[in-house]
Amino acid sequence: MKILVIGQTGQVGHEVCERLTEKGIPWYAPDRKELDLSRPDQIQSCLNRHQPDLVINAAAYNNPVKAENEPSRCFSINRDAVAELADCCQRQGIILFQLSSYRVFDGTKQEPYNEKDPTNPIGVLGNSRLQAEQQIRERCERHIILRLSWIISERRPNMLRRLTEQILVNSEVYVTPDQLGCPTPADDAARIIIAMVQQLDCGAQAWGTYHYSTTESVSESNFAEILIAEASQHRDLSVRKLIMANIESREGIKPPANGTLSSNKVLNTFGVHARPWRSAVARIVREVCELRSYPP
Ligand SMILES: NC(=O)c1ccc[n+]([C@@H]2O[C@H](COP(=O)([O-])OP(=O)(O)OC[C@H]3O[C@@H](n4cnc5c(N)ncnc54)[C@H](OP(=O)(O)O)[C@@H]3O)[C@@H](O)[C@H]2O)c1
Repeated sequence: MKILVIGQTGQVGHEVCERLTEKGIPWYAPDRKELDLSRPDQIQSCLNRHQPDLVINAAAYNNPVKAENEPSRCFSINRDAVAELADCCQRQGIILFQLSSYRVFDGTKQEPYNEKDPTNPIGVLGNSRLQAEQQIRERCERHIILRLSWIISERRPNMLRRLTEQILVNSEVYVTPDQLGCPTPADDAARIIIAMVQQLDCGAQAWGTYHYSTTESVSESNFAEILIAEASQHRDLSVRKLIMANIESREGIKPPANGTLSSNKVLNTFGVHARPWRSAVARIVREVCELRSYPP
């Protein structure tokens, strides 16, 4: 199976490519010059050039705040390019493996979301992700949509990096006690993606929508406390006080209060088990603390 990965520079895309190399699975990842999703006309020629059996789309417009100010760019990358990608994959018999997000839900459910729960996205970004999913279901029979919870890594902006950087530098850090998620290391998401891809390669016809998140949910404020405990083992911290601010007090677009997902369907269908996140968080915090660009 030859795989084309879109979004190689991203948190998950990077780890997917690392794992594909480890497993000896042939892959190719176009750079932004070759494939810019805001230029959907480039999609067909890219697929013609590389003739993949499966496309993993790990690329997305991911900034919820900016998305409110430039909705047409967000919809063009997240929905319109994905619709074109789905059409091309269908025509060429290519499997489309699309990453999606807990942001298709409004976050009002008290338990982890499962795949049958009604969607109701908040804001431009969530709407663009949901509409992308709808386009894929309508256009490309052989597809997988994998929704993920909070993605963390030492690379690129993410919740762990944002909080850790603030803890290192600021004396007061604002956190929300009522925002829940399952921090999911990018390499753990990649582990699940590759396991699913290998089973598709062996003939599994398990098309549809799946959720994956790690086993333990945590609020942003409790997560910040864990990050303080971890970071204090490596650096003197500036933070003296965590200031609790409810989600409702946030200005602008609010994230879904509950970003936790149930991984039961992916376990029952593909036999892949969710993992805990705490040991990975210890490693990632150490790596973030060791980055030279922060004040000592
Ligand atoms: N981050 C989270 O907390 C989170 C949570 C749930 C779900 N997800 C989903 O999981 C997937 C992977 O997320 P991630 O955190 O790994 O993403 P990320 O680190 O933000 O990376 C996004 C990737 O998309 C690429 N990209 C953006 N605009 C593009 C365009 N116009 N054309 C081509 N490529 C473009 C970026 O390329 P450049 O390097 O050139 O910018 C980068 O490779 C996404 O679908 C995301 O929505 C993420």
